[in-house]
Amino acid sequence: MNSLFRKKSIDELMATATPLKRTLKTKDLTFLGIGAIIGTGIFVLTGKGALTAGPGLALSFLIAAICCGFAGLCYAEFASMAPVAGSAYTYAYMAFGELVAFIIGWDLILEYALGSATVSVGWSGYIVNLLDNIGIHIPTVLTAAAGTTPGVTTIFNLPAFFIVMLITGIVSMGVNQTKRLNDIMVMIKLAVIILFILFTFKFVDPSNWKPFSPYGWYSTHDGVASGIIPAASIVFFSFIGFDAVSSSAEETINPSKTLPRGILLSLLISTILYIIMTMIMTGVVKYTAFANYLNAPVLAVLAKTGQTWLSIIVSLGAIIGMTTVLLVMIYGQSRILYSMSRDGLFPKFFGEVSKKTQTPFKGTWFIGTLTAIAGGLINLNILAELVNVGTLTAFILVSAGTLVMRYTHPEIHRGFKAPGLPVVPIISILFCLTLIAGLNWETWVRFVIWLLLGFIVFFGYSRKHSAMNKL
Ligand code: ALA
Repeated sequence: MNSLFRKKSIDELMATATPLKRTLKTKDLTFLGIGAIIGTGIFVLTGKGALTAGPGLALSFLIAAICCGFAGLCYAEFASMAPVAGSAYTYAYMAFGELVAFIIGWDLILEYALGSATVSVGWSGYIVNLLDNIGIHIPTVLTAAAGTTPGVTTIFNLPAFFIVMLITGIVSMGVNQTKRLNDIMVMIKLAVIILFILFTFKFVDPSNWKPFSPYGWYSTHDGVASGIIPAASIVFFSFIGFDAVSSSAEETINPSKTLPRGILLSLLISTILYIIMTMIMTGVVKYTAFANYLNAPVLAVLAKTGQTWLSIIVSLGAIIGMTTVLLVMIYGQSRILYSMSRDGLFPKFFGEVSKKTQTPFKGTWFIGTLTAIAGGLINLNILAELVNVGTLTAFILVSAGTLVMRYTHPEIHRGFKAPGLPVVPIISILFCLTLIAGLNWETWVRFVIWLLLGFIVFFGYSRKHSAMNKL
């Protein structure tokens, strides 16, 4: 059958699973999740978020968290049903068929590849700052993409390029090395955040929380959207990554139990830390002061409290924290490409598993290099918003897919079931649509262009080469 909507059954999905090594347990997945979640969102985008929402930013984080929580339940159900690599892309193959699966895969490339590029730019901001403090000055033209700061000439973000290439090298060597390194770095990241909370909460001055929501839920000023919802649409980025947990299904022991647990636990822990951190940040510093600290807003707090020693530790923690996000995202993106290539939707090149490393070595390097170049050339806010719209679209499709599969395939065993169907997926979809509405229209246009490019690839290549043609 050559329908645009031809579907894969669970058995077909499981049969194509290749022998990647199964080594990951719940703890590893939770660490992988936290490793992917806590990064540029909290360490960098809170600055823009605070200017957009005021102290109400904590509510923006809560809204984004609720959105991800509902979507996370749907992800968890799907992951427990089809524990194979590929995450939302694979799920859509079952629920909606090839075309929608391709579109989700295409969105996920936006999420992971441009997501890594975004994080690399955040990483660069902190490292440039830290190096400056110890007397090492990177020429300004090489610290950001062109046009990032008005009045300052910049050409290319060299540190961002460098870190993506380095992590690509590590990921291409294999999951064991990645896991060990990830675990240590996640522990450091958590320790630094807890240290920050413990040492700064006593400086909170509740008068800084007034007015709590200077721009209301949604308002526009000079054509720019402000308020709690638009800020939620920006800081939504902080939660991206929990879905990366599900792309490691083929490398997980007992995935139908461990995947849902890993997804939900990592989301819960991150949400608690985010809300505490943003309340402290906007409580210690007047929200307007973040305008001068957009690259490293956390440091605005430490400058105010005079804890210079802590600012170096927190900077190091942020750098390490963002490094783990990069590790998981670059790992995730190579696995998405691997799955799509295995299905014939992308060239074989991306799916070839190297005998030596047991990883999709060439594909990892190919997409890693493109990501590094994007990080060098594109501004952080443009990248982050584009990633958000792509990810929210993927969430909508996964949530709708959960609903469709429950009614069309009730017989399939699910190790985990999203409670309260159909309410949970519907709420998830409504939250995602609200957050998409909070983004700038330029972002929507860029996303539509990305989708059109996807259609060209699908009808020009993928459809002709799909492995399903041979069935
Ligand atoms: N959630 C990840 C971050 O904030 C992508 O860096």
